Amino acid sequence: MNSRPPLSNSRALLITAGAAAAFFILLMIIPGPHKNRTNSPSPAVGPTGSTEAPAGLFATRCSQCHGLPALTHRSPEDWRILVLKMNRYMKQTGRLSLTDAQAQEVTRYIVENQK
Ligand code: HEC
Repeated sequence: MNSRPPLSNSRALLITAGAAAAFFILLMIIPGPHKNRTNSPSPAVGPTGSTEAPAGLFATRCSQCHGLPALTHRSPEDWRILVLKMNRYMKQTGRLSLTDAQAQEVTRYIVENQK
């Protein structure tokens, strides 16, 4: 026979709140790359309407671990996947990384400038 009474609602609530608080504190303690670096909020858009950012993003982000990669020909899809993989590495190792939009811009830059 189960003689223990079920958790009262308020007790369960307290435990849940406590666990949530502990988890939140843990998140705050764990150091990590802070997403919102105080970059200029809007990307610089040149007079031609094309952003200048992608070339700079490519140069700064993609040279953090190896030399700037040669842009040998790959399909756009291959580059897209590769940039996503590299961006994952950047996040995992706490380096400067790319937002989703920036990753797309860099991918487009690469595809347009590859040999
Ligand atoms: C956090 C470190 C890091 C950064 C930053 C980085 N890479 Fe890499 N890259 C690697 C590692 C590690 C490898 C080899 C392992 C692999 O291919 O997964 C690699 C391999 C490559 C290769 C060869 C892979 C192949 O399949 O031929 C290319 C091309 C490349 N990187 C392009 C880039 C581009 C473009 C960027 C910027 C968007 C970039 N990398 C940024 C770590 C990085």
